[in-house]
Amino acid sequence: LVAEPASLVIFGLTGDLSRKKLIPAIYDLAHSGQLPPDFDLVGFARNITDVKGRLRESVREHARTPFDPVVWNELAERIDLVQGSFDDTAAFARLSARLAELDVRRGKPGNYVFYLSIPPSAFATVCDQLAITGLNRDAHGWRRVVVEKPFGHDLASSQALGVALERVFPPSSIYRIDHYLGKETVQNILALRFANGMFEPLWNNRHIDHVQITMAETVGVTGRAGYYDGVGAARDVIQNHLLQLLALIAMEEPVAFDAGGIAAEKIKVLSATALLGPLSETSARGQYGAGVENGKFVPGLADEAGFPVDSATETFAALTVGIATRRWAGVPFFIRTGKRLARRTTEIAVTFTPPVHGSPAARAAAVSNVLVFRVQPDDGIELHIGAKRPGGGMHIQPVSLGMDFRSVFDPAPEAYERLICDVLRGDATLFPRREEVEWSWRVIDPLLEHWAAVGRPDNYPSGTAGPESAERILSRTGRAWRPL
Ligand code: BG6
Repeated sequence: LVAEPASLVIFGLTGDLSRKKLIPAIYDLAHSGQLPPDFDLVGFARNITDVKGRLRESVREHARTPFDPVVWNELAERIDLVQGSFDDTAAFARLSARLAELDVRRGKPGNYVFYLSIPPSAFATVCDQLAITGLNRDAHGWRRVVVEKPFGHDLASSQALGVALERVFPPSSIYRIDHYLGKETVQNILALRFANGMFEPLWNNRHIDHVQITMAETVGVTGRAGYYDGVGAARDVIQNHLLQLLALIAMEEPVAFDAGGIAAEKIKVLSATALLGPLSETSARGQYGAGVENGKFVPGLADEAGFPVDSATETFAALTVGIATRRWAGVPFFIRTGKRLARRTTEIAVTFTPPVHGSPAARAAAVSNVLVFRVQPDDGIELHIGAKRPGGGMHIQPVSLGMDFRSVFDPAPEAYERLICDVLRGDATLFPRREEVEWSWRVIDPLLEHWAAVGRPDNYPSGTAGPESAERILSRTGRAWRPL
């Protein structure tokens, strides 16, 4: 697939995501010559005063590649701005006229990507305006619309959002961004599983004891109250990023490694996934209190600007799910995430069943092999095995075989570079479909309901591994979380 000439319209150009991720990624694509020919970027925003100056600063601060004024100036010339608010039909008519003008000026066919980098509450309004102005109809070129999570706040709202989008765009034109799927190590999960012969025969409940999926962050939610309060960790990252990781770890081999083939298998496995209970013992949630973030003293969530002192929003969530298939029945998947934890790490650890030996001494010496996909920060793969310690006797010590992506491959593009490029090329492989999103809500909705009924999250000091209650989820099964 090649990227055809196109115009990318960003709604919310001056918002946080656009400044920190989208514009830097587009700059990086320009830097590596990967933008399509005759590319135009049209920003739609309420306030367009000095937008280009502000974007230039964002690029300086957040782009992966070094700032090159020549590349920036070329890109800046391709940026057009339309001032208006989302309910202003006249502004959408101006947008439509501007896009048509650019097509004529460059002699291009009218291929438009509409990137909704805006709160979901505004999705329907913008889509309706696009329909009123006829911008959703692809008389000459193609139309694609990109939406950012959160895709709803539960199953019902997510379905309503799906209906609102599909009223205006056909399902094949809707690209839902889950930026975890743009990460190279995440794509490597399928490569490791299916391009190698030695893992797949063991990839089942006869050989795997359990799986841990961890996404630990050291940062808090300072400055994000408007989005995060009332949302919380389970909706923010488990419903999407972490259940997508689970789907890639657990799915069957797709018939083809393309959008349809991969989506079909992810949908199958997510539809077989459900919480394991009782939820009071198999799940935990927490909210950070005062403590340490990256070596500095920081206040707790209740003292952050914008959060009510009695906010019940969780910044830590842990849960247990099972997958009702022949391959996975009986294997618990433990998932946890948290803000302001001791260390930043995202990883998936697959723990194999230890060998069954006859004698107590041999059993004591046996180790559980663990295969770890390190998504970040030091992306790589490691395998823990037991080896004999040198010297007399048979003393087994766990050791690790490892591969660092950075020492083998050139630096990978940022997730957003990859995903924007894929939208421009029309490759939907790395974008979750509506059914995946909805099955994921079906997994966590009962937990959200349970939490709503049972009071407040537990407190944990910033800079720790999370609340005590999370430790108990595993200790009651005779297991332990991997240390943070
Ligand atoms: C976002 C969440 O989707 O992912 C944030 O809204 C989170 O709360 C972020 O911090 C983490 O992304 P990454 O790529 O830094 O792991």
